[in-house]
Amino acid sequence: MGSCRVTVVGAGYVGLTSATCLARLGHRVVCVDNDTAKVASLCEGRVPFYEPDLDKLLREGLASERLRVTTALPDAVRDADLVLLCVPTPMGDDGGADLGAVRTVLAKMRTSLPSGCVVVTKSTVPVGTSHRIRELLRRPDVSVASNPEFLREGTAVRDFFSPDRIVIGVDDPHARDRLSELYEAIPAPRVWTDPVSAELTKYAANAMLALRVSYANVLAELCEKVGADIRDVIEAMGYDERIGPAFLRPGPGWGGSCLPKDAHELVRAAASVGVDAGMVREALAINDRQARRVVARTRRLATGSADGSLRGVRVGLLGLAFKAGTDDLRDSPAVTVARLLAQHGAELTAYDPGVRAERADVVPAVVVDDPYRVAKGASVLVVLTEWPEFQHLDWGRLADLMVRPVVLDTRNHLPADDVRAAGLAWHGVGIG
Ligand code: UGA
Repeated sequence: MGSCRVTVVGAGYVGLTSATCLARLGHRVVCVDNDTAKVASLCEGRVPFYEPDLDKLLREGLASERLRVTTALPDAVRDADLVLLCVPTPMGDDGGADLGAVRTVLAKMRTSLPSGCVVVTKSTVPVGTSHRIRELLRRPDVSVASNPEFLREGTAVRDFFSPDRIVIGVDDPHARDRLSELYEAIPAPRVWTDPVSAELTKYAANAMLALRVSYANVLAELCEKVGADIRDVIEAMGYDERIGPAFLRPGPGWGGSCLPKDAHELVRAAASVGVDAGMVREALAINDRQARRVVARTRRLATGSADGSLRGVRVGLLGLAFKAGTDDLRDSPAVTVARLLAQHGAELTAYDPGVRAERADVVPAVVVDDPYRVAKGASVLVVLTEWPEFQHLDWGRLADLMVRPVVLDTRNHLPADDVRAAGLAWHGVGIG
């Protein structure tokens, strides 16, 4: 099996996962990032964010010397067969992806890339960026390819080694050979296509996931009005092979650093060429109202009215991250809910197994490291993130600590019968 010399630019979730996993596959990898504190921590084998198994792979890679982490760009690309661009492309002011970091990196390394090298975008970049990269590089002896990454936070390592598919957009045989070699050891279907189609695939997939969850959230609203139970509706729908059960769990809205950004970018990109991606726009609008729905229900449960004042009312929040298995608060619906509740005067205490108190500067809540402290004096407990450990809490103890033993479970995550048996009023979502 061939071994490639790979430079990964950017040590975030995608970059660091790619770098450590590729080193594990036997490639010689240099991971470069401009954040000196982050690089120092990584060189000592410490990952500065939470992602299962990544620490172990990092330490293994460093020990085997197949992985090196550095701030030295452009030196890090001088011997590379492949350069993987994994820098952030956040949402810009116009709602589109901000390519500033990609441009900066290209400017720094363009003259140092060896002839025959393949520059590969793994970051989610707007459709057509591969053309733009070619123009910015002005290096006809360097290939440009698109290889969007589909890994999820919380299961990034597993997703890297066992992806549903590998999508590669190339338009020259040399780039194709190099990328074939890079992923030789990973058993997954390959979709070989052109760079523009590969770029679009990433947006198409994330927007589809967003559409599904928004659809589930609309159905949940409908179930509440007509007296149906979303849990049964979804189970029944999911058995249909054409539909499947994934990404149909209702909740406080879809968040994180990818789905919202990518849905916005798809709408913007489509509009820029005269195509109305109205259904994605609608999915975004549905998503926007989910946090307000949670707040209205919390107000009703705490005060008897959806407009009731929460001034002086204690509300406990279980979960702050945008989903379980991560400490990521970016675009987290839980944080939006917390901000809205605080605006209505609620006194918030929050607990999230992945979020340490000192990291929670973005949340208007007292963040504690014990779930039982959240319940103390609370009129409502709101479950916002589906951490497995919440299912095993001592609900009797929680009920004793509360002023009114009421739980709003925005993800239908808790064992409702056990919670009720412990003396709490359990309220789920989408249950009429
Ligand atoms: C998403 C995609 O799932 C990955 O394939 C993609 O690689 C990644 O974006 C990216 O573009 O980098 P991620 O942001 O880690 O991954 O999060 P997801 O697991 O997709 O969850 C997104 C949001 O949807 C979360 O807030 C989650 O709680 C919510 N969700 C998901 C639901 O509310 N219901 C569901 O049934 C599923």
